[in-house]
Amino acid sequence: MKKIKNICCLGAGYVGGPTMSVIALKCPEIIVNVVDLNADRIAAWNDVNLENLPIYEPGLDEVVSKARGRNLFFSTDINTAIKDADMIFIAVNTPTKNYGEGKGMAADLKFVELCARQIAEVSTNDKIIVEKSTLPVRTAQTLQTILKSNGNDVNFEVLSNPEFLAEGTAINDLLNADRVLIGGNKTESGQNAIKSLVDIYSNWLSPQQILTTNLWSSELSKLTANAFLAQRISSINALSALCEATEADVDEVANAIGTDSRIGSKFLKASVGFGGSCFQKDILNLVYLCRHFNLPEVANYWEQVIILNDYQKHRFAKKIINTLFNTVSDKKIAFLGWAFKKDTNDTRESASIYVAERLIEDGAEIHVYDPKVSREKIKSDMRNLWELKGINEDIILHKLAQIKVYDEHSEAVKDSHAIAILTEWDEFRNYDWISIYKKMYKPAFLFDGRGILNIDKIKEIGFDFYSIGK
Ligand code: UDX
Ligand code: UDX
Repeated sequence: MKKIKNICCLGAGYVGGPTMSVIALKCPEIIVNVVDLNADRIAAWNDVNLENLPIYEPGLDEVVSKARGRNLFFSTDINTAIKDADMIFIAVNTPTKNYGEGKGMAADLKFVELCARQIAEVSTNDKIIVEKSTLPVRTAQTLQTILKSNGNDVNFEVLSNPEFLAEGTAINDLLNADRVLIGGNKTESGQNAIKSLVDIYSNWLSPQQILTTNLWSSELSKLTANAFLAQRISSINALSALCEATEADVDEVANAIGTDSRIGSKFLKASVGFGGSCFQKDILNLVYLCRHFNLPEVANYWEQVIILNDYQKHRFAKKIINTLFNTVSDKKIAFLGWAFKKDTNDTRESASIYVAERLIEDGAEIHVYDPKVSREKIKSDMRNLWELKGINEDIILHKLAQIKVYDEHSEAVKDSHAIAILTEWDEFRNYDWISIYKKMYKPAFLFDGRGILNIDKIKEIGFDFYSIGK
């Protein structure tokens, strides 16, 4: 087994950044170079003011402050980092393809392939390549083929080591992982490579927490884990609609079934719909793979998880429009929260984007407050959506003018016709809802898309209150 002394990570994003920071913290004898094409992002990782790190993640600043400059380095010098490394993690993004074959479904492996080509080109000694990005099953084969074409007589061993961290709890998920999964070839060099990576994680995890499998099981397990998690949310969200029709309470139902140890209590919170960079992308990818292997029934089964999630977002927007007397035209709707979940500044696939789109289409003015998401990010999320739909620039500018972003929640809710809670930020629970009520137009409507407020208390204040699944 080769003892790893130098690690390089390609991609300093939500996955690469926190994962490498924790590895560097726990393995002070290993040099960890995190590289990225995006110079601004790298500059932010190197900022002396830890509040300027490019991603917000509780506890990350402390980990970075301990390891950065000691054995953790962020840079744009990709070639040198590749050359120096014994082990290279690929953590670049793998978005859903938005062009050509597999458009809207398949994972776009363009960046991963570029990484492999670059590694093949500049490497002069043997290396272990670790897939961190979520990839379709059998991508490792593609990587192996590209890497073999290097011709420098260099041996590359490819491992799959999918990331299971959730944003907002990334540092804890890394430090106290339920499990780490490592897949590799059954060959002797494959098994040795696995041992080298196990050795790294063993610095802080027990042997029971480290699972090893073959390459394909590992690749497929990541897609499967995300599909199962998303499926639970779509299941409870489907029932939230039935609860509303039958006067059952979705939280009570979730609690009642969650106490069955076979079902378990986690991931049963009804919501306006799941977001994030992974769930939708990975399920679409799974559906695409099933169709590719001619398994239409399996594909249709998983696709339903996405269809239901879209339904839930539209249902929430429609509820707002219908409740406000069938039109929100020229009405001011305050959005509390824009991030796809609390404790992150990530907005990828956030339900807020799709709810905002619907309401803006109906003529609403959206006044947003989110504790961590910037004005620029909110505007660019909407612009990207409309550009992707081919909407022309004049109309986009007109629609963007319908969105206002505030630094204080009290400003966003002032003189609003309705408030919609899109993210479950803790601070929303503790607002002075009486004074908010006083500042709004009457009747004052409040739509809780996250089920975080107490119905009785909110109704007592005078709000016309809707909470998902109640
Ligand atoms: C990750 C995973 O890699 C993805 O497969 C998983 O499903 C979700 O999370 P994430 O870290 O969230 O991606 O993505 P992002 O924050 O976009 O970071 C990727 C980084 O890679 C970016 O900073 C980008 O600049 C960089 N990059 C991309 C490169 O350095 N080189 C490239 O060729 C492409
Ligand atoms: C997910 C997986 O949890 C993680 O293991 C994987 O590595 C990446 O994808 P992430 O997307 O960061 O992590 O967050 P997660 O906590 O899973 O939440 C995803 C979405 O589901 C959020 O929009 C969240 O609000 C929503 N959700 C979650 C619910 O609506 N109800 C729940 O009960 C749980």
